[in-house]
Amino acid sequence: MRLTFFFVFLLFISSSTLATASPPPSPDRYLSSLLRRPPRQHQQQDYIELSHPLPTDRLVPSCSHLLLNHSFAYTYGQPPTSVPYAPPSTCPPPWTYVVLDLRVAVRGDQYDRIAGLWLGGVELLRTSTAEPTEDGVYWRVRKDVTKYASLLARSDLDFSVMLENLVNADFEQETKFENSIKFQNNGNDKKVKQSVTSKTEIKITNVVGEVVGQASLKRKYPLKVITSTRDMGNGTYHLFTNVDHSLKERFSSGNISSSLTNSQASDGWMLVHDHNVLSGEAKTDQSYVYIDNYSCYTRNVAAVNGQLTRDNTSFICPNYW
Ligand SMILES: *[C@@H]1O[C@H](CO)[C@@H](O)[C@H](O)[C@H]1NC(C)=O
Ligand SMILES: *[C@@H]1O[C@H](CO)[C@@H](O)[C@H](O)[C@H]1NC(C)=O
Ligand SMILES: *[C@@H]1O[C@H](CO)[C@@H](O)[C@H](O)[C@H]1NC(C)=O
Ligand SMILES: *[C@@H]1O[C@H](CO)[C@@H](O)[C@H](O)[C@H]1NC(C)=O
Ligand SMILES: *[C@@H]1O[C@H](CO)[C@@H](O)[C@H](O)[C@H]1NC(C)=O
Repeated sequence: MRLTFFFVFLLFISSSTLATASPPPSPDRYLSSLLRRPPRQHQQQDYIELSHPLPTDRLVPSCSHLLLNHSFAYTYGQPPTSVPYAPPSTCPPPWTYVVLDLRVAVRGDQYDRIAGLWLGGVELLRTSTAEPTEDGVYWRVRKDVTKYASLLARSDLDFSVMLENLVNADFEQETKFENSIKFQNNGNDKKVKQSVTSKTEIKITNVVGEVVGQASLKRKYPLKVITSTRDMGNGTYHLFTNVDHSLKERFSSGNISSSLTNSQASDGWMLVHDHNVLSGEAKTDQSYVYIDNYSCYTRNVAAVNGQLTRDNTSFICPNYW
């Protein structure tokens, strides 16, 4: 099976403000074509991930800068793909915002994999690829990389991308893990419940030991999976699956707090004969609720058999905050 990855990296450089958001100073046809989805061969499916919008989402970028357009095939055990980097000559620094825009299209039989990208050895992004369908899937990842502006202004660096399994070991935190698995009905019904909580505390003290700064990050990842199998005889069976999982995060630094709840509930069934899926259905519901001292953001998305049935976004704060 042939595996094809297309990665397009773009830098959006904005020097306009919300009030002056208008067509770019020098209309950039290249940009407008890039802003659209990747070329759709067959019926590629759009994978969406709920996340907080970026402050630049309502701005028109002054220019875009293509960093790499690459097809990754068999990269296992290979060195990262590296290209020389130079900032765009058409829109020199200083920049107000810089956003990294990654577009990926994948087709074929492929597991999810961890990918990382670096500029001059500095990690700009670490992400994971999705498992594609046969017709292919595509998605976008955007990240505000304004804080790397001094690096992005240099032209003596290499831009590298690695698409392989990577291990990240530089977190210091307290993690609790609980897992229970129940088998019922001769093992035809299985129930898995798992809960992971992590807590990271940072304290900054001055020379006389007084606390001058404090931050805390608490995360919970509850997960519940229920599967039931019903044998229909003659090598045919029905498989029912229900998956509920969430990320619950509380962050506080000084007198500023934020909370995020990102939950997904999915249900599906399939009829299988000799390892072939004869029929099936799946539905999923996801909600993303972010609240901090200055803003709120909620998005609710539902899909049935891969088709979006609801997509609601709100910036109104729930009144319990
Ligand atoms: C990326 O490369 C592919 C294949 O060479 C091409 O079809 C596509 O137009 C390129 N995209 C951009 C943004 O240059
Ligand atoms: C297997 O049995 C089920 C019901 O018991 C029946 O509906 C189905 O047609 C059979 N399938 C095959 C491939 O024989
Ligand atoms: C929050 O903390 C900042 C910095 O410590 C301080 O300047 C500000 O007055 C505080 N605001 C409130 C409402 O307590
Ligand atoms: C931010 O919200 C938290 C939680 O409600 C509250 O304790 C804190 O005082 C708020 N900070 C500011 C600066 O309003
Ligand atoms: C969004 O939610 C409102 C009220 O909750 C509902 O009336 C509306 O139909 C929803 N829109 C979509 C596209 O689902």
